[in-house]
Amino acid sequence: MMGRMKLILASRNRHKLEEIRTLFDLPGLELSSALDHPEIPDVEEDGKTFEANAIKKATALARATGGWALADDSGLEVDALGGAPGVYSARYAGEPVSYPANNAKLLKALEGAADRRARFRCVVALSSPSGKTRTVEGRCEGRIIHGIRGAQGFGYDPLFVPDGFDQTFAEMEAGAKNAISHRGRALQKARAAWHDFLMTDPAEWPAP
Ligand code: IMP
Repeated sequence: MMGRMKLILASRNRHKLEEIRTLFDLPGLELSSALDHPEIPDVEEDGKTFEANAIKKATALARATGGWALADDSGLEVDALGGAPGVYSARYAGEPVSYPANNAKLLKALEGAADRRARFRCVVALSSPSGKTRTVEGRCEGRIIHGIRGAQGFGYDPLFVPDGFDQTFAEMEAGAKNAISHRGRALQKARAAWHDFLMTDPAEWPAP
């Protein structure tokens, strides 16, 4: 009988884990998370790109556990701010991480700005036990409104209205957000690209 493929999710963010678990719910896949491995230290997210950070998180966890690991790195890019907060999205308003402080800082930075175009980006990296990786990326285009709306989700959700919708991410049901979000799209791509391969319970990526 085929063994159950084990995959560890690198996040400790419960909101993200919930979204990833929903979208990466493949039959035969046994998911655990970094929350189940408190002994493994978090890596410093000091990469200049979402891709570099996702790869760093996935490989660190894969090497530390000897298993396959999946990591995502994501953030918000605002055109009028030259792409900020970008890879600094989580700590935009400094430490400790505060979603309300980040939202307040973003609104202030955009005061009087006519161009409120923005996008969420998410890179998902899958690492083999030895630290070899593949990545996929998902994006969601939209705009930043003038005041927070909605109580669901996390982060910048109350300020982000995706193109083609009137509601913010924080006003949408989780399923509706997941269907069009950057993370949802990246995970759908990941699922399509890696599903058959993961179902074979591999020890390593095939040679390219
Ligand atoms: P990461 O944990 O390093 O990927 O940082 C992601 C940060 O980007 C979060 O702390 C949020 O501030 C922001 N972010 C990423 N995805 C979302 C989302 O789906 N909604 C709202 N904010 C998000």
